[in-house]
Amino acid sequence: MSIIQLSNIAYTYPSGIKALNALSFSINKGEKVALMGSNGSGKSSLCLLLAGVIRPDEGDYFIQGTRFRYCRKQRLSLCRTIGYVFQDPDVQVVSTHVDEDVAFGLRNMGLHEDEVQQRVTTYLQLSGISDLSKKAVHTLSYGQKKQVALAGVLAMEPEIVMLDEPFAWLDYRQSQRLLDVLKQLSESGKTVIVSTHDSQFAAEWADRALVMQQGSLKVDGSAGDVFADEQLLEELDIAPVNQTISCLEH
Ligand SMILES: Nc1ncnc2c1ncn2[C@@H]1O[C@H](COP(=O)(O)OP(=O)(O)OP(=O)(O)O)[C@@H](O)[C@H]1O
Ligand SMILES: [Mg+2]
Repeated sequence: MSIIQLSNIAYTYPSGIKALNALSFSINKGEKVALMGSNGSGKSSLCLLLAGVIRPDEGDYFIQGTRFRYCRKQRLSLCRTIGYVFQDPDVQVVSTHVDEDVAFGLRNMGLHEDEVQQRVTTYLQLSGISDLSKKAVHTLSYGQKKQVALAGVLAMEPEIVMLDEPFAWLDYRQSQRLLDVLKQLSESGKTVIVSTHDSQFAAEWADRALVMQQGSLKVDGSAGDVFADEQLLEELDIAPVNQTISCLEH
């Protein structure tokens, strides 16, 4: 069953940049999708659109079989269905303290305060940042803020989780923890979409690869097929698996 369906979606920023163009695809419940493509190809714009932050100029967006109309009621309920961890945590983390930030979305959902506190504790722990609970957000590193944003989204327990460059800035231990979180999400039947430049991760983790190029969907295939095709990867400016970028090689 398709949980997300886009039909002929287009979006142009007010500045005139056309970020998304004639996008049509669907994603099934429980899929693990790697969203790939070079810088500026439209991955984050697509995530923003799916999260209801930007509204398409053309086309239809269906979520769980219902057309998304961008009305207030649908926007408010969208956070229970789809959670987005932004590429830049500075635009997502809104409260002064870590525990308050994770609680923010839960209180907006109207949950009882006991439930809010229980989820804050659970999801700070899952994200590996229980020790940061009482810290002021402005004292955190970029990677730590990214983990706070992750905890806040997971705490809302959405059906679909979208993570935009989730490994950027994370150290080895936190990256391993995030891999465990991704595994748990999939085991519990959630649909997970990860925007990434990390071919190794995408090839090992994803069922499916969607590759964007200049706002259009260039490739939609099984991750196995896409990452086996080195010529295609070269054309799409995507690093082949097992290749690290090293300045020492030049
Ligand atoms: N807020 C904005 N206002 C105007 N143009 C924007 C805005 N955000 C993104 N763009 C433009 O839209 C296009 C798509 O950008 P987007 O951030 O979606 O790409 P991306 O694939 O996520 O790139 P990256 O890999 O660097 O994160 C780019 O040309 C970008 O400059
Ligand atoms: Mg991006």
